[in-house]
Amino acid sequence: MLEKRLYHEQLFALTLTYPPSMDAIMDALQPGAFVHILPSPSESRQLFLRRPLSIAGLDREKRTVLLIVRVVGQGTEQLREVQPGTVLDVYVPYTHGFPIHNVKNGARALLVGGGVGVAPLLWLAETLHAQGARVTALIGFRESRDVFGLRTFEQWGDVHLVTEDGLSGKPGRVTEYVRDFSYDVLLSCGPEPMLKALAHITAGDSRPHYASLEARMACASGVCRACVVAVRSDVHADTGHHMVSTDDAARIQHRRVCHDGPVFSLSELVWRAP
Ligand SMILES: Cc1cc2nc3c(=O)[nH]c(=O)nc-3n(C[C@H](O)[C@H](O)[C@H](O)COP(=O)(O)OP(=O)(O)OC[C@H]3O[C@@H](n4cnc5c(N)ncnc54)[C@H](O)[C@@H]3O)c2cc1C
Ligand code: FES
Repeated sequence: MLEKRLYHEQLFALTLTYPPSMDAIMDALQPGAFVHILPSPSESRQLFLRRPLSIAGLDREKRTVLLIVRVVGQGTEQLREVQPGTVLDVYVPYTHGFPIHNVKNGARALLVGGGVGVAPLLWLAETLHAQGARVTALIGFRESRDVFGLRTFEQWGDVHLVTEDGLSGKPGRVTEYVRDFSYDVLLSCGPEPMLKALAHITAGDSRPHYASLEARMACASGVCRACVVAVRSDVHADTGHHMVSTDDAARIQHRRVCHDGPVFSLSELVWRAP
């Protein structure tokens, strides 16, 4: 670990550095990718399971990775206590990130993020801007003290802030404002209620809509199936378009968030009942 920055007790950013031997792996990653990290240094190993964290920034020249972490339990709390200079045990899974190849030069990309779900959108905004897309970020946080990333988004496009406490930006939730924006493609990451609301708002809309999911994970290598989500098999995974189904009722399949995702077409996801 190179650097740690505390926003407040429950939110911090880490900059990690990786060795040249990992260049090929890191070069192949796309926004939406995540690392699977043991929260405590290898020698202490207090927790058995790794924790998935999105890559919020990747500088391939400096060989650094930025992570933004919200403390919600033991693992993230332990990670907060790790000091710069510590060697961490990090696994980089093979993932399917945001389909940036579908975002053409000049396309209007609306990035919708909630809470720490905003983290992967920072790297996504930079990447889409570099390939000529017009980026608008609509980001929401519960409290204004949780806000991060504004200046980064401003570098790559427009940014609109929403907070539930109403102390910064517009008051309320991001999903209340989505309809105010024109876009060609929508890419999102955030808590399940936000993604569910987005799916509801965009239902029947033929434009592509993507969501990065935060499932509970164990192996993060596609083996244990701890992270499966239900998807409709009659929706094209890449475009989100409905295909002709031989069945009236859509067939349900299961996909591993760690290996087949974490990014899915919003319209293919089948949400659990509340
Ligand atoms: C692909 C992916 C990317 C992620 N990116 C980030 C990120 O960039 N920054 C970040 O702060 N977090 C991110 N998360 C969530 C993060 O992995 C969890 O918050 C973390 O594993 C919790 O570990 P813990 O030991 O602190 O909490 P635990 O003790 O494991 O759990 C504490 C509480 O948090 C809940 N919880 C734990 N994990 C999740 C989860 N995945 N989704 C919803 N609730 C959960 C539990 O139900 C429990 O109530 C990501 C998750 C995934 C799957
Ligand atoms: S976490 Fe094991 S298959 Fe996804």
